[in-house]
Amino acid sequence: MANPPRPKVKISALGTYVPPRVLTNADLEKVVETTDEWIISRTGIRERHIAEKGMATSDLAVEAAKNALAERAIAADEIDAIIVGTVTPDMLFPSTACLVQYKLGAKGVWGFDLSAACSAFLYALQTGTQFIAGGAHKRVLVIGADVMSSILDYTDRATCILFGDGAGAVILEASDNDGLGIIDFMHEVDGSGGCALYMPAGGSLHPATHETVDKRMHYVHQDGQTVFKFAVKKQAELCEKLLCRNGLKGSDIDVFIPHQANQRIILASAERLGLKPESVIINIDRFGNTTAGTIPLAMETARQEGKLKKGHLVLLASVGAGFTVGATLLRWSC
Ligand code: UT7
Repeated sequence: MANPPRPKVKISALGTYVPPRVLTNADLEKVVETTDEWIISRTGIRERHIAEKGMATSDLAVEAAKNALAERAIAADEIDAIIVGTVTPDMLFPSTACLVQYKLGAKGVWGFDLSAACSAFLYALQTGTQFIAGGAHKRVLVIGADVMSSILDYTDRATCILFGDGAGAVILEASDNDGLGIIDFMHEVDGSGGCALYMPAGGSLHPATHETVDKRMHYVHQDGQTVFKFAVKKQAELCEKLLCRNGLKGSDIDVFIPHQANQRIILASAERLGLKPESVIINIDRFGNTTAGTIPLAMETARQEGKLKKGHLVLLASVGAGFTVGATLLRWSC
């Protein structure tokens, strides 16, 4: 097998943020016909954090970014670009990246939003990596942030129990040529799954009208089983291909950090990939599915649990609306 590509880009800092308010399964039992037992056994979720009214995605993103900047001990204007992965931008325009730039006081910086639902953090990570690997930029701030509670129908028990609000940010920089950093990635989209998970209105197809509001079209709609089956199959398939291309087996992975949509999807992927059980990071019990926020939040969980250390071989994986699928291989570097 060929030697893995040498990393040119590394993660130099990580910061996360979740709003303080916690919504437990017991709280949801009072809102829709559900039970704590059903939610835990089908998803693994026990509680999730929910933003207060008026708190938008850019607010969560800024807090996560500030934590990453503090960890790296640099000022906001020492960043060259900001990429925000989100499906819940503050507004359709301006982009959340512009709002984050302004709130951080990051003068002279450019940026944009990236829409890839639950794969947005991985897609943004790879996009930022290219700017640095190509020599255009020195530092890129990559953020995954969503206020999913702003697009949830709290009369639909099949979706409202699944999601939470949260954000994570990393700073990307050139690698020190020490083998640490982003090694390789594989991404894939399959638009045939578009109607399995989507928000029907609010875009150019169905602009907001009284009718779209009455028909509850401004909320997340999901065919859970279709998404579940696709996720279980495709996430592991793409990870397998990525490992194989790098001459690796699942058992070589020190830390597996997957998107947190359903504990059963995570465990099925881990089993299929032959991962060591202790390598699998799960925090869905505390945060639910925070869409673009899950992977950096799970990085932080792994760090806090002492499972993610400099030099560890890490596999990141995601599946989301679109469908979008992503897998990234890296050696942890901060
Ligand atoms: O991050 C983006 C990607 N999203 C995903 O990866 C989500 C993938 N899908 C899933 O995780 C699962 O499909 C769900 C957790 C959403 C649902 O689990 P499921 O095992 O697929 O349940 P189901 O949709 O087949 O529903 C089974 C039953 C139904 O009742 P009947 O028809 O059997 O009587 C539902 O009405 O469970 C019922 N149900 C509930 N019962 C109590 C659905 N939601 C609830 C609920 N509480 N919250």
